[in-house]
Order: sequence, then C-alpha cells, then structure tokens
Amino acid sequence: SILAVIFDLDGVLVHTDQYHYQAWKRMADEEGIVFDESAGDRLRGISRMESLEVILEKSSRTYTSEEKEALAAKKNGYYRELLEQLTPADAAPGSHEIIAACKLQGTKVAIGSSSRNTPVILERLGLTHLFEAVADGNEIDNSKPDPEVFLLAAKKLAIDPECCIVVEDAEAGLVAAKRAGMKSAAIGTVINSPAAADYRLHRLEELTAVIWG
Ligand code: G6P
Ligand code: MG
Repeated sequence: SILAVIFDLDGVLVHTDQYHYQAWKRMADEEGIVFDESAGDRLRGISRMESLEVILEKSSRTYTSEEKEALAAKKNGYYRELLEQLTPADAAPGSHEIIAACKLQGTKVAIGSSSRNTPVILERLGLTHLFEAVADGNEIDNSKPDPEVFLLAAKKLAIDPECCIVVEDAEAGLVAAKRAGMKSAAIGTVINSPAAADYRLHRLEELTAVIWG
C-alpha cells in the first residue's frame, strides 16, 4: 500500500520549469548558442551543471570550468529574478487539494527535487510547513536519474521505498523512482514519453484515484 507521496517540485507543484527554460534561453542567446524547447525538456530533473553541459553541446567553442561556473551563476541569477514573481497563487492547480487529501488520509507528503532553489520556492509558495520531509539538490551528490534524492526523502519520512509513490514531470525522475524501488506517476509532457511509469496523470487530482482507488 502507498504510505507516502514524494512530489517533484519544478513542473509538478509549480510552473518553474518554464522559468528554468526562460533563464537558460536568455543565457544561451547571449552566448549565441542554439537552444529550444526540445532541448529544454532534456533539462528536467537534472542538476544545474549537468543542464549547462547539455546546452554547451550545441556550442562551437569549449569553455573552461571557471567559464562554466560563471555561466551557471548567470543563469541562476536570471532564474532567481523570475522566482521573485512567485506567489502562493502559483502553486499548480490541484496541489493544495491533493496535499490536503493526503493529510486527511494520514498519507505522508514529501518533496524530492534536484533544485538547490527548493527552499526559496517552497517559501514563496507558502507550502514549506505542509511537507513532512524535504529532500533537495543541496543535500545530494547525484541528481536524477540517480535515486539518491528520493531515497533520502523516504529515509527522512521513515517509510519504506516500496510504500512511496513519486510524482514526476521528468524522464530522469521516472527512472530515479524506479531505481529507488518506488511507484511512479508521470504528469506533464512526460506523460507521452516511453519512460516507464506506473501511472500517467493528466491532472494532479487524478492521484486520489491512484492512491485510494
Ligand atoms: C530541477 C529542474 C531542473 C534543474 C534542477 C536544478 O530538477 O527540473 O531543470 O536543472 O532542478 O535546479 P537549480 O534550481 O538548482 O538550478
Ligand atoms: Mg520536474
């Protein structure tokens, strides 16, 4: 049975996936590097530096590690500017309802995100206090598709991985859930991907039927 839901953050509980895209796009345009939405989808769930490496594949020149650090910092600055617009009204439709339903049923809720900006985003959304555990990019060595962040969330909850379900908008996240021995539900553009997922959701509300039938 499912005792806990581990939510990915960006692209699941909030539309910050669009902000990531816009911030990388601004950086790529300034560098004269081709970057589009399909490349953008590859950045879902992977770390900041791994994302930069994917973008630099399209560059004609090579970058030193100092230059890479500077580009990643620049992108994060643009991203943080965009995050300043976030308010509690930006929590994805259905997120408050599904979290409330979990509370009512005694199902634990956690965050499992590769983002180092997770604490800031949760604060801006006013969601921080609702989660029994938050595992994020500040605490892990390996980001998705490695299962580390989800296993850390389960450990913090003191719930066995096989009793957890992960909600993800990234292929890397679905792979990570499987490697963690957890169930998974795909939402967003990944719903049409061939990546293994136990469930596919058009809306967050559909999770209630998955968990409680
Ligand atoms: C999430 C997003 C990724 C992003 C990663 C790191 O997993 O889906 O697109 O690269 O977080 O985000 P950060 O906020 O630490 O740069
Ligand atoms: Mg995501």
